[in-house]
Amino acid sequence: MKIAITGVAGFVGSNLTQRLVHRGDTVRGIDDLSHGSLENLGPLRNSTSFQLDQGTILDPSALRTTFEGAEVVVHLAAGKIPRHGDALDTLLINGEGGLNVLRAARDCGVRRMVLASTSDCYGRNPQIPFNEESASVIGSPKVRRWSYAVSKMFEEQALFAFRERYGLEGVALRLFGGYGPKQNITWWGGPQSVFIGAALRGEPLEVHGTGQQTRSFTFIDDMVEGFVRAVDTPKADGEVLNIGIDREITIENLARMISSMIRPDEEPNVRLIPYETFGRYEDVERRIPDGAKSESILGFRARVNLEEGLPRAIDWQRGAMKRLGLL
Ligand SMILES: NC(=O)c1ccc[n+]([C@@H]2O[C@H](COP(=O)([O-])OP(=O)(O)OC[C@H]3O[C@@H](n4cnc5c(N)ncnc54)[C@H](O)[C@@H]3O)[C@@H](O)[C@H]2O)c1
Repeated sequence: MKIAITGVAGFVGSNLTQRLVHRGDTVRGIDDLSHGSLENLGPLRNSTSFQLDQGTILDPSALRTTFEGAEVVVHLAAGKIPRHGDALDTLLINGEGGLNVLRAARDCGVRRMVLASTSDCYGRNPQIPFNEESASVIGSPKVRRWSYAVSKMFEEQALFAFRERYGLEGVALRLFGGYGPKQNITWWGGPQSVFIGAALRGEPLEVHGTGQQTRSFTFIDDMVEGFVRAVDTPKADGEVLNIGIDREITIENLARMISSMIRPDEEPNVRLIPYETFGRYEDVERRIPDGAKSESILGFRARVNLEEGLPRAIDWQRGAMKRLGLL
C-alpha cells in the first residue's frame, strides 16, 4: 500500500514508517524537522520504499506533492502543549495545518486518513477511566495549555466533517503518553525523556507541580500497532479510539522509578517545581484510558508495561545523548 505520513521524522512517525516499510508498504513523508530528526529515519533513508519531503504542512502545494498517489494518509505533524512558549504555533500548525492536510488528502483522492489525536481532549474530566464518549472538560482560554486540546478537537471535528461531506474515511486515535526509542529527548518528548536525561547526567529530576498527578505511559510498539491496525481495519472508519495502557502512575513515582533504574545505588533526587514557573498553568490530575472500544474494533490492547519498556527507552536515550555529546 502507498501511505503518506506527516511528521514522519518524529517519534511516532519514524517508528511507524520503519514498521510499514518492513511489512512491504511504500511510505512518502513530509516533515519540517522542527522537532524530528534525520537520525530518526536512519537506515530508511537508503530504502527505495521510503521518500522524505522536507517541508511544512502549512504549505498546501508541498502536501499535494507528498500525498500524490497515496491510499492512506497518517497525520502526525503537530504543535504540542505550549509549556514554555505562546499558544499560537500550536493553534496554527494543528488548526490551519490540519485543514491543509484534509484538503490535500481530498484533492489527491486519498481513501482514508488516520489522525493522531490526544488524551488531552478529555481535559480535566474527573471521571476516569476515559472512554471515547467521555466529555471534554476544558479550562479557560487564558490558560494556554488548552490550546493543544482545543486544536486537536478541531482536527477531530474537521476529520469527521470531511468524511461526511467528501467521503474521506477517517479514524481519530487518542494517544496516551507515548515513550520509547526515538522520543524527543527534551521536554517536548514528555516527562520521561526529561527524567531519563537528568538521571543519566546525575542531575535532579524536576517534577512539575505536586508530582501526584497521574498518567498512563504507552510504549511505542503498542502505539505503532494501534496505527497499523487503524490503517488496515475497515470498521475503524468513522471512529474515535483510545490508544493507551490502562496502568496509572504518579509523575513523582515515574521519576523515582527511572532514577532507580539508572542509578540503583542512589536515593532518587527529585525536585518539585511549582506550576507558577510557567505562567498560568493548569494540569490534569488523573488520566487513564478505557481500552475496551479499541480492543473490540482493532482487536488489540496496549500491553507493554513500564518495567519492560523503560529500559529500552533508557538504552536508546543513553546512546542518543552520547552521539550528541550530552553525556
Ligand atoms: N507521543 C505521544 O505521547 C503523543 C500523545 C498524544 C498525542 N500525540 C500526537 O501524536 C503525533 C505524533 O507525536 P510525536 O510524539 O511523534 O511528536 P514529534 O514531535 O516527535 O513528531 C511530530 C513531527 O512533526 C514535525 N512537524 C511539526 N510541525 C510541522 C509542520 N508545520 N510541518 C511539517 N512537520 C512538522 C516535527 O518536526 C516532528 O518530526 C502528534 O500529532 C501528537 O500531538 C502524541
